[in-house]
Amino acid sequence: MPKANIVAISGSPSPQSRTRVVLEDVVQAVAERVDALVDVIDIGEIADLLGPTKLRPEAPAEIERLLQAVERSDLILAASPVYKGSYSGLFKHFIDMIDHRALEGRPVGLIATGGGDRHALVIEHQLRPLFGFFNARTLPTGVYVAESQHQGGHVVDPQVRARLDRLAVEAVAALSRSPVSAVA
Ligand SMILES: Cc1cc2nc3c(=O)[nH]c(=O)nc-3n(C[C@H](O)[C@H](O)[C@H](O)COP(=O)(O)O)c2cc1C
Repeated sequence: MPKANIVAISGSPSPQSRTRVVLEDVVQAVAERVDALVDVIDIGEIADLLGPTKLRPEAPAEIERLLQAVERSDLILAASPVYKGSYSGLFKHFIDMIDHRALEGRPVGLIATGGGDRHALVIEHQLRPLFGFFNARTLPTGVYVAESQHQGGHVVDPQVRARLDRLAVEAVAALSRSPVSAVA
Protein backbone atom coordinates (compact mmCIF):
# COMPACT_ATOMS: atom_id res chain seq x y z
CA MET A 1 0.00 0.00 0.00
CA PRO A 2 1.44 3.47 -0.87
CA LYS A 3 2.18 5.84 2.00
CA ALA A 4 -0.74 7.99 3.11
CA ASN A 5 -0.33 11.75 2.81
CA ILE A 6 -1.42 13.36 6.05
CA VAL A 7 -1.63 17.12 6.48
CA ALA A 8 -1.85 18.38 10.05
CA ILE A 9 -2.89 22.02 10.50
CA SER A 10 -2.12 23.76 13.78
CA GLY A 11 -4.24 26.92 13.95
CA SER A 12 -2.48 28.81 16.72
CA PRO A 13 -0.52 31.98 15.99
CA SER A 14 1.38 31.44 19.25
CA PRO A 15 5.05 30.29 19.06
CA GLN A 16 4.72 28.13 22.23
CA SER A 17 1.54 26.42 21.13
CA ARG A 18 -0.33 23.84 23.19
CA THR A 19 -2.49 23.15 20.14
CA ARG A 20 0.56 22.16 18.12
CA VAL A 21 1.79 19.84 20.88
CA VAL A 22 -1.62 18.13 21.12
CA LEU A 23 -1.78 17.88 17.33
CA GLU A 24 1.63 16.21 17.24
CA ASP A 25 0.36 13.74 19.84
CA VAL A 26 -2.50 12.83 17.48
CA VAL A 27 -0.14 12.68 14.49
CA GLN A 28 2.09 10.26 16.40
CA ALA A 29 -0.89 8.10 17.38
CA VAL A 30 -1.90 7.87 13.70
CA ALA A 31 1.66 7.39 12.39
CA GLU A 32 2.16 4.46 14.80
CA ARG A 33 -0.71 2.71 13.05
CA VAL A 34 -0.19 3.54 9.37
CA ASP A 35 2.69 4.19 6.97
CA ALA A 36 2.41 7.92 6.29
CA LEU A 37 4.12 11.08 5.10
CA VAL A 38 3.11 13.93 7.40
CA ASP A 39 3.17 17.63 6.53
CA VAL A 40 2.59 19.88 9.56
CA ILE A 41 1.30 23.36 8.73
CA ASP A 42 1.83 25.68 11.69
CA ILE A 43 -0.26 28.81 11.22
CA GLY A 44 2.03 30.68 13.65
CA GLU A 45 5.05 29.94 11.44
CA ILE A 46 3.35 31.26 8.29
CA ALA A 47 1.43 34.12 9.92
CA ASP A 48 3.67 36.81 8.41
CA LEU A 49 2.90 35.50 4.91
CA LEU A 50 -0.72 34.57 5.59
CA GLY A 51 -1.83 37.78 7.30
CA PRO A 52 -1.27 40.16 4.37
CA THR A 53 -2.68 37.69 1.80
CA LYS A 54 -6.22 38.85 1.07
CA LEU A 55 -7.20 36.22 -1.48
CA ARG A 56 -5.62 33.11 -3.03
CA PRO A 57 -4.59 34.60 -6.40
CA GLU A 58 -2.16 36.84 -4.56
CA ALA A 59 -0.88 34.13 -2.20
CA PRO A 60 2.93 33.80 -1.97
CA ALA A 61 4.35 30.55 -3.40
CA GLU A 62 4.78 28.99 0.06
CA ILE A 63 1.12 29.56 0.99
CA GLU A 64 0.02 28.20 -2.39
CA ARG A 65 2.19 25.11 -1.86
CA LEU A 66 0.59 24.48 1.54
CA LEU A 67 -2.93 24.97 0.19
CA GLN A 68 -2.21 22.42 -2.53
CA ALA A 69 -0.79 20.02 0.07
CA VAL A 70 -4.10 20.23 1.97
CA GLU A 71 -6.14 19.79 -1.20
CA ARG A 72 -4.13 16.71 -2.29
CA SER A 73 -3.93 15.04 1.11
CA ASP A 74 -5.47 11.69 2.05
CA LEU A 75 -6.27 12.82 5.59
CA ILE A 76 -6.42 16.20 7.32
CA LEU A 77 -5.92 16.67 11.04
CA ALA A 78 -7.28 20.13 11.85
CA ALA A 79 -6.50 21.69 15.22
CA SER A 80 -7.19 25.16 16.57
CA PRO A 81 -7.09 26.95 19.89
CA VAL A 82 -10.44 28.34 21.00
CA TYR A 83 -10.50 32.08 20.45
CA LYS A 84 -13.65 33.84 21.66
CA GLY A 85 -15.65 30.63 21.44
CA SER A 86 -14.48 29.64 17.96
CA TYR A 87 -11.38 28.67 15.94
CA SER A 88 -8.67 31.31 15.55
CA GLY A 89 -9.08 33.95 12.86
CA LEU A 90 -5.81 33.04 11.11
CA PHE A 91 -6.84 29.37 10.97
CA LYS A 92 -10.10 30.40 9.25
CA HIS A 93 -8.20 32.73 6.92
CA PHE A 94 -6.07 29.80 5.72
CA ILE A 95 -9.09 27.52 5.33
CA ASP A 96 -10.95 30.28 3.42
CA MET A 97 -8.38 29.98 0.62
CA ILE A 98 -8.94 26.24 0.04
CA ASP A 99 -10.87 25.44 -3.14
CA HIS A 100 -14.48 24.75 -2.16
CA ARG A 101 -14.55 21.56 -4.29
CA ALA A 102 -11.23 20.14 -3.12
CA LEU A 103 -12.13 18.37 0.13
CA GLU A 104 -15.23 16.43 -0.86
CA GLY A 105 -15.28 13.11 1.01
CA ARG A 106 -11.88 13.80 2.63
CA PRO A 107 -11.45 12.39 6.15
CA VAL A 108 -10.82 15.19 8.64
CA GLY A 109 -9.95 14.74 12.32
CA LEU A 110 -11.00 17.63 14.54
CA ILE A 111 -8.97 18.84 17.53
CA ALA A 112 -9.26 21.96 19.71
CA THR A 113 -7.60 23.31 22.82
CA GLY A 114 -9.08 25.84 25.22
CA GLY A 115 -8.48 27.49 28.55
CA GLY A 116 -11.28 25.63 30.32
CA ASP A 117 -14.11 23.17 29.67
CA ARG A 118 -16.81 25.65 28.73
CA HIS A 119 -16.02 25.76 25.03
CA ALA A 120 -15.55 22.02 24.40
CA LEU A 121 -18.45 22.10 21.94
CA VAL A 122 -16.37 24.29 19.64
CA ILE A 123 -15.66 21.05 17.79
CA GLU A 124 -19.34 20.30 17.15
CA HIS A 125 -20.56 23.87 16.70
CA GLN A 126 -17.68 25.49 14.79
CA LEU A 127 -15.11 23.07 13.37
CA ARG A 128 -17.48 20.34 12.17
CA PRO A 129 -19.79 22.73 10.25
CA LEU A 130 -16.75 24.43 8.70
CA PHE A 131 -15.62 21.15 7.14
CA GLY A 132 -19.24 20.25 6.45
CA PHE A 133 -19.24 23.20 4.07
CA PHE A 134 -16.62 21.35 2.01
CA ASN A 135 -18.58 18.06 2.15
CA ALA A 136 -15.54 16.62 3.88
CA ARG A 137 -15.92 13.44 5.96
CA THR A 138 -15.26 14.60 9.51
CA LEU A 139 -14.34 11.73 11.80
CA PRO A 140 -16.84 11.03 14.59
CA THR A 141 -14.53 11.51 17.58
CA GLY A 142 -13.33 15.07 18.19
CA VAL A 143 -10.61 15.78 20.75
CA TYR A 144 -10.92 18.85 22.99
CA VAL A 145 -8.13 19.51 25.48
CA ALA A 146 -8.48 22.06 28.29
CA GLU A 147 -5.38 23.53 29.95
CA SER A 148 -5.82 21.36 33.07
CA GLN A 149 -5.85 18.18 30.95
CA HIS A 150 -2.46 18.86 29.41
CA GLN A 151 0.86 19.01 31.25
CA GLY A 152 4.52 18.77 30.25
CA GLY A 153 3.73 18.37 26.58
CA HIS A 154 1.31 15.47 27.08
CA VAL A 155 -2.40 14.86 27.45
CA VAL A 156 -2.66 13.70 31.08
CA ASP A 157 -6.41 13.18 31.38
CA PRO A 158 -7.09 9.45 30.71
CA GLN A 159 -10.50 10.11 29.15
CA VAL A 160 -9.07 12.66 26.72
CA ARG A 161 -6.18 10.27 26.00
CA ALA A 162 -8.72 7.55 25.16
CA ARG A 163 -10.55 9.93 22.80
CA LEU A 164 -7.24 10.80 21.14
CA ASP A 165 -6.51 7.12 20.53
CA ARG A 166 -10.07 6.59 19.27
CA LEU A 167 -9.60 9.44 16.79
CA ALA A 168 -6.36 7.84 15.59
CA VAL A 169 -8.14 4.50 15.05
CA GLU A 170 -10.93 6.25 13.11
CA ALA A 171 -8.34 8.06 10.99
CA VAL A 172 -6.57 4.82 10.09
CA ALA A 173 -9.90 3.15 9.28
CA ALA A 174 -10.83 6.07 7.03
CA LEU A 175 -7.47 5.84 5.24
CA SER A 176 -7.90 2.13 4.61
CA ARG A 177 -11.69 2.46 4.19
CA SER A 178 -12.10 -0.32 6.77
CA PRO A 179 -14.69 -0.35 9.54
CA VAL A 180 -13.28 0.99 12.84
CA SER A 181 -13.85 -2.41 14.47
CA ALA A 182 -11.39 -3.99 12.01
CA VAL A 183 -8.63 -1.56 13.01
CA ALA A 184 -9.13 -1.21 16.78
C1 LIG B 1 -7.34 35.77 21.96
C2 LIG B 1 -7.65 34.56 22.82
C3 LIG B 1 -8.95 34.17 22.99
C4 LIG B 1 -9.26 33.05 23.76
N1 LIG B 1 -10.57 32.67 23.90
C5 LIG B 1 -10.87 31.55 24.62
C6 LIG B 1 -12.23 31.11 24.73
O1 LIG B 1 -13.16 31.72 24.22
N2 LIG B 1 -12.46 29.96 25.43
C7 LIG B 1 -11.45 29.23 26.02
O2 LIG B 1 -11.72 28.18 26.63
N3 LIG B 1 -10.15 29.63 25.92
C8 LIG B 1 -9.85 30.76 25.23
N4 LIG B 1 -8.55 31.16 25.12
C9 LIG B 1 -7.49 30.30 25.68
C10 LIG B 1 -6.86 29.41 24.60
O3 LIG B 1 -7.84 28.77 23.79
C11 LIG B 1 -6.01 28.30 25.23
O4 LIG B 1 -5.05 28.85 26.10
C12 LIG B 1 -5.37 27.46 24.14
O5 LIG B 1 -4.99 26.22 24.66
C13 LIG B 1 -4.17 28.18 23.55
O6 LIG B 1 -3.61 27.35 22.56
P1 LIG B 1 -2.18 27.66 21.92
O7 LIG B 1 -1.17 27.50 23.04
O8 LIG B 1 -2.02 26.64 20.87
O9 LIG B 1 -2.23 29.05 21.39
C14 LIG B 1 -8.22 32.29 24.38
C15 LIG B 1 -6.88 32.73 24.21
C16 LIG B 1 -6.60 33.83 23.45
C17 LIG B 1 -5.16 34.26 23.27
